[in-house]
Amino acid sequence: MPTGGRRLRLAPSLLSADFGALGDAVRAAEAGGADALHLDVMDGHFVPNISFGPALVAAVRERTRLPLDVHLMISEPLRYLDAFHRSGGDTLVFHIESDSDPEEVVRKARGLGVAVGGAVKPETPLAALDPVFDRLDQVLVMSVHPGFSGQAFLPEAVPKVREARARIDRAGASTDLSIDGGVTATTAVAAAEAGATFFVCGNAVFASGDVTSNLRRLRAAVDEGAGRAVR
Ligand code: DX5
Ligand code: ZN
Repeated sequence: MPTGGRRLRLAPSLLSADFGALGDAVRAAEAGGADALHLDVMDGHFVPNISFGPALVAAVRERTRLPLDVHLMISEPLRYLDAFHRSGGDTLVFHIESDSDPEEVVRKARGLGVAVGGAVKPETPLAALDPVFDRLDQVLVMSVHPGFSGQAFLPEAVPKVREARARIDRAGASTDLSIDGGVTATTAVAAAEAGATFFVCGNAVFASGDVTSNLRRLRAAVDEGAGRAVR
């Protein structure tokens, strides 16, 4: 198997979709072969941009059976876990740079029975996740500065993915390893080769062309990268 046995998943980010026709974007992603949807929640405080909250996540939940990966770029994730769980998020990803205590976030998510991810910004070392690393369902390595879609992939994310992969493998864990920001059919190859398993793609899916062919191109790229990793 070219993926080394790992399941590689593509998660289109709705931040790059047309907000005026979000239902269409959700349907197109699902029909085009997406494995999950990524929802970028921004509070205008943790990041300079404001996007959407639990009500929009709930509206998306009603329109798809795909798992919803909720990326909380907010200062107080702990305070909102309940709301995003109730709105239908399957994985709630918090930032280690946020103001919430990571131990409490993980404990709260466990109590709710929702999967939990820990994210690091480009300037944050992976080691920042140490206190909770082994209890995470997903590790998210950011390959752009959070806040906006359509930015260029920062190559320094690649060694960080490699480091996270080594750590997950050493523990014999099945933690998802997510790469988020500037993922295209070109950059996805390196990320997959480094061991990412979950690929968030915004503009590469929704900015131009057809969603199904865009996803097909991305699928070929991640398979190629994972194939290189096992050779
Ligand atoms: C950035 C977000 C990303 C972004 C991805 O703050 O976390 O999920 O929407 O979009 P692209 O793939 O266009 O960089
Ligand atoms: Zn994101």
